[in-house]
Amino acid sequence: MNDDFISTVSHELRTPLTSIRGFSETMLSSWDKLDDENKKKFLKIIVEQSNRLINLVENMLSVTKLQETKENLIYKEFSVKPVIDMTCSVIKNQYQDKKYTVNISEKTPQILADKDKFQQIMTNLIENASKYGDENSEIIISSSFDDEYVHIKVSNYGIEIKEEDYEKIFTKFSRIDNPLTRKVQGSGLGLYITKNLTDKMGGKISVNSNNGMTTFEVCMPCANIERQAKNAVSYLDN
Ligand SMILES: Nc1ncnc2c1ncn2[C@@H]1O[C@H](COP(=O)(O)OP(=O)(O)OP(=O)(O)O)[C@@H](O)[C@H]1O
Ligand SMILES: [Mg+2]
Repeated sequence: MNDDFISTVSHELRTPLTSIRGFSETMLSSWDKLDDENKKKFLKIIVEQSNRLINLVENMLSVTKLQETKENLIYKEFSVKPVIDMTCSVIKNQYQDKKYTVNISEKTPQILADKDKFQQIMTNLIENASKYGDENSEIIISSSFDDEYVHIKVSNYGIEIKEEDYEKIFTKFSRIDNPLTRKVQGSGLGLYITKNLTDKMGGKISVNSNNGMTTFEVCMPCANIERQAKNAVSYLDN
């Protein structure tokens, strides 16, 4: 691990820990002076900051695991729709103001990927769309396909990402500084992990943000193409 990584992580860990300690100490020392409403407010902050720490630690574990992922991928052929539907229903509980529209044709071919990792990719993107999307707005997940790839788009309405930041957001610990990002929590690791996993599985990821809408597009290899390629190789081998 390089110094840069360690100093960023230390900073990211120290901020929520300092706040958890501060609010707990105040509650202990001034218990009798605090009214119920303030106690509740302090406890809420402690819970929020603990969640922030858990998210950070989980993401950091994912980052360390990325190095060993390539060998450990378990490839399977599967349809994307059930995975996306399931992911949406889990995330929906946390973002009840959002409306989720999933537009995926029955004709969409199966993909060849590691199912858990694909779910992790979808979770990160749909969670971001929910987190950074305008209040009470719609999150749209749609797909298309060609001979090689199934393309999955996750779109939301909200503050745009500037073109000059398109590459930066996929790097470690990068968060765009705007009033919204300051308000919602995040470690800046989600998209780094997402891109890394997508690349490892032979896929692609890109972003486009304009007219108040942000769209992330993931392309995953179609199962039949991989099968055809494998068949061709084994045909050549024999
Ligand atoms: N759908 C989106 N709309 C607008 N900005 C976005 C969107 N998705 C990501 N971003 C920007 O890109 C940054 C990086 O996203 P990323 O998912 O890597 O980190 P994060 O959401 O801040 O934290 P976490 O590690 O918890 O996911 C975000 O902080 C945000 O500024
Ligand atoms: Mg994120």
